[in-house]
Amino acid sequence: MAKKTIEDVSWSGKRALVRVDFNVPMNDEGKITDDTRIRAALPTITYLADHGARVILMSHLGRPKGQRNDTYSLRRVADHLRGLLSGRRVFFVDDTVGETALAAVNELQDGDVLVLENVRFYPGEEKNDKDFAKALAGLGDVFVNDAFGTAHRAHASTAGIADYLPCVAGYLMEKEVGIMGQALANPERPFVAIIGGAKVSDKINVIENLLPKVDALLIGGGMANTFLAVQGYDMGKSLVEADAKETAARLLKLAEQHGSRLLLPEDVIAAKAFAADAEHTVRLVDEVEPDEMALDIGPKAIEVYQREIRGAKTVIWNGPMGVFEMPAFAKGTFAIAEAMAHADATTIVGGGDSVAAVEQAGVADRMSHVSTGGGASLEFLEGKLLPGVAVIADK
Ligand code: 3PG
Repeated sequence: MAKKTIEDVSWSGKRALVRVDFNVPMNDEGKITDDTRIRAALPTITYLADHGARVILMSHLGRPKGQRNDTYSLRRVADHLRGLLSGRRVFFVDDTVGETALAAVNELQDGDVLVLENVRFYPGEEKNDKDFAKALAGLGDVFVNDAFGTAHRAHASTAGIADYLPCVAGYLMEKEVGIMGQALANPERPFVAIIGGAKVSDKINVIENLLPKVDALLIGGGMANTFLAVQGYDMGKSLVEADAKETAARLLKLAEQHGSRLLLPEDVIAAKAFAADAEHTVRLVDEVEPDEMALDIGPKAIEVYQREIRGAKTVIWNGPMGVFEMPAFAKGTFAIAEAMAHADATTIVGGGDSVAAVEQAGVADRMSHVSTGGGASLEFLEGKLLPGVAVIADK
């Protein structure tokens, strides 16, 4: 992207105020259960510290609604980061914009790292309040935005702060925007997108944005039922969004207008109950019984979709093909993950559920890019300019 990055700044002695997305899942004991987002920020942190910056990290964790709440303290995240950055001094301060935070910043030496307390303990953060943004800005000399996962939020620490400090991108931000931006703007062809998930209504904008760009769009998950219903199939008890039928019909037309192939499953895995142990059977889409519901794509659909992926040069995937939390209905989702892992193509996975699926399938490291953004990657694929990206200075 033609945006300034951390490599465009001379860091020695400067205070690098870095927005990271350390919104990581934790279990009931407060143990981090997936540190992917923390690891993804390490290249930026290490580069800054190695180049003599004093690195000040700010993040949100959870949704504490503008109030201090120990459950969402970043202390444990700071402890975890210390373990990952062995040999470096990593501090935590139980404050974000007050005197204590400022004192902690002033004590830093070049190469030190300081984690501030959760920015969402303050109501000004999500309101993108000017005074709060200004107070944050007072802690640094340059604002580095490396929080791709939060770039769709116009908050004080992701957007407002850039009114008071020069802003450059960190490595993670640069990578996310670079690889997904390239795929959308100038993909190597054939370009295939796979879109799944329960509801058409959640994915209208992404389908609309992708249809003119892709060679083929493969639809799976619950949302396929609504498209199939529009085409006249009786999907039995399957999830069909009655009020999204018109939209689905419009999207089918749009595909025709753009000459993009919109593929729907020819067969599904049907069951009589939404349960892990429900009896299930393969049905062609015109054979679904009135008391059955489709909970995954079927073997014929898998074959067709895998063939499309094998022949592609760029593949983007967002949303599961079925109820993959239940092993009986996970085959379609894992088949997509496997096919992408073996494809000779640029492969991009965006969105919480599909990322979880490639991780469960053990093929995350075989993808060109697994986005750290859930909502952010979806909005990026919708073609929106994300507020946290917009504020980064152009080269
Ligand atoms: C995410 O997990 O998608 C980001 O960290 C943003 O979190 P939010 O949805 O609470 O703003």
